[in-house]
Amino acid sequence: MKHLLLIGLLAATAHIGLHAQTTTNATQNEWTTITNGNLWIDSEGNDVQAHGAGFLKVGDTWYMIGEDRSSSWHPDVNMYSSKDLVNWKFERKIIENKVTHPDLGSKRMIERPKLMYCAKTQQYVVWCHWESSNYAASEAGVFYSNTVNGPYTYHWGGRPLGVKSRDCNVFVDNDGTAYFISTIEENQHLGLFRLSDNYLSAVEYTELFKWKSREAPAIVRVGDTYYMLSSACTGWDPNPCMLSYSKSLTEGWSELKQVGNHIAYDTQAASILTIKGTKQTTHLYVGDRWQDPRLPESKTIIFPISFTSDSCLFDYTRQFDINYTTGEWRPTSTSDRYIDKRQWRVLDCSSAENRQADYAAHYAIDGDIKTMWQTETPKELIEGMRTRDWRRVERMAKSQHRIVVDMGKVNTIKGFLCTPRTDGISLGLIRNYAFFVSEDGKNWEAVSKSHWMPYWTEIDFAPCQARYFMLTSNERRGVSVAEIDVF
Ligand code: DGJ
Repeated sequence: MKHLLLIGLLAATAHIGLHAQTTTNATQNEWTTITNGNLWIDSEGNDVQAHGAGFLKVGDTWYMIGEDRSSSWHPDVNMYSSKDLVNWKFERKIIENKVTHPDLGSKRMIERPKLMYCAKTQQYVVWCHWESSNYAASEAGVFYSNTVNGPYTYHWGGRPLGVKSRDCNVFVDNDGTAYFISTIEENQHLGLFRLSDNYLSAVEYTELFKWKSREAPAIVRVGDTYYMLSSACTGWDPNPCMLSYSKSLTEGWSELKQVGNHIAYDTQAASILTIKGTKQTTHLYVGDRWQDPRLPESKTIIFPISFTSDSCLFDYTRQFDINYTTGEWRPTSTSDRYIDKRQWRVLDCSSAENRQADYAAHYAIDGDIKTMWQTETPKELIEGMRTRDWRRVERMAKSQHRIVVDMGKVNTIKGFLCTPRTDGISLGLIRNYAFFVSEDGKNWEAVSKSHWMPYWTEIDFAPCQARYFMLTSNERRGVSVAEIDVF
């Protein structure tokens, strides 16, 4: 029995290790690996549920709070702690339906809770979106606690300074002045609310980005410049992330400029973290990959970003190593993980790649994520859309795209990674797919199949022997693939 338990424990550790390998007690030489795409698992083996997350660093510990979307439309607010942003300990539900406030869980729900420490009162303060089920209340909520991990006490809920307020965040400036920033007046503008010295109420507000309908704002200060990332209002669906910057919080914000691809790599901004090391300062973008594929499976995505005087380098990094002592980061080396592709060749593929030499199928296995295989948009689809012949369009959903690859020899494989195009456009993103393997190129077995391929994420399947693989998809508008890797 003991033996079995030990095996179970080892298996559980291996599972966690797969998605979140890490080293702790960081010193100059120690690196933590952050891997994006999968649900995080806490130290008790449960899913980490902290969406729309807010962060506070106390000593060497990060505290993260966020929406628990596991079972309820009315999320509790969970708190987790971590020293490396990978190994998370569940602290507690710091705000709980029914318990913290009688309306929570029925008449009221919380979104995007954000955490601050007020040095003046030595209190921890949470501001959040405090909403009714149909989003008509448009209010903010304030909670406080004398200890970081709560539980938190309800202080106030309402429209700050009488202004209708929804999606939100907080920002504490270098001098300790705190701000609540939210999407105001039916999602039309952003409101920047300066808070009182005790952080418990709003005392003044400035309207920003008038009529621009921005939400999910996240502000960071780098030197004497403030940078803000925000999204458009498209519910839980992703849209482009936009950057704006200014030397003052209340005026002079630059025009909004898109950073990253058309769907912000399937994320929406939640926070920006600053890692100040002995050698450099690294900024980490934290975004929500909502509905992946359903709300409870939403993921938290982290990757390094950097700022220049008038821009932000916002490139998705699926996996990277970070050194919390020096502040440095590097893409994780994957040279030992994936099967060598030098002997691979494309045996077959759908659609007219040859007529589009720049997008030929071999670009999906050439080891360069800047090149891609892209199928031609079917003429029948274009025609169907033009003539509004929806039955014809519907028929196209049944047309199948495929790529068949010969790996040159039989390998034992247990998963694949499909890297989406990296040219900033999201057209051709594969969601529904099937992955087949074969030893002889004649008898095929589907080892993985789903209507939902998570964005740029490794997909595991039971280990098998294969010399050939085939990736198929029924994406109606065609598919684009930068790279396929197998491990
Ligand atoms: C997008 C927001 O950013 C989320 O926090 C949430 O309010 C959804 N809209 C609700 O549709």
